[in-house]
Amino acid sequence: MSKLSHTEQEHMLDLAFEAMEKAYTPYSHFNVGACLKGESGKYYLGCNVESASYTPTNCAERTAVFKAVSEGEQKFSAIVIVCSGKNPAAPCGVCRQVLREFCKDDMPVVFADKDRNVIESTLGELLPHSFGPEDLL
Ligand code: THU
Repeated sequence: MSKLSHTEQEHMLDLAFEAMEKAYTPYSHFNVGACLKGESGKYYLGCNVESASYTPTNCAERTAVFKAVSEGEQKFSAIVIVCSGKNPAAPCGVCRQVLREFCKDDMPVVFADKDRNVIESTLGELLPHSFGPEDLL
């Protein structure tokens, strides 16, 4: 696993908390921010965006991935996720699958609670025996 350095992890946590300030959460009031690092070195920030009809709600992680891909970057080296809750917000199943489309199994996935307590994992740990692009192509 290509672990994040402490300095880099702290920097990405700061950026994810900045992204969380933009969260649009009139229904859940549960704010999430994500900082996705491209292999180019560029950071893509995302927040959750909710909808009155609930289902179209987009998680912070997917916002970050879709921003990156729409800007031309498709390879990523790490993602850091923070939330306003008292437990670190692990990415939901849908976001894990979306990350799987573009990221390797050993990519660091770090998630934190509102007080910056972190859990360090990898995509492969979060989504084992997964189905991905190479199964179709
Ligand atoms: N949410 C995220 O943004 N990321 C996650 O990994 C978990 C859930 C959002 C979706 C919704 O706006 C709110 O948190 C409550 O589920």
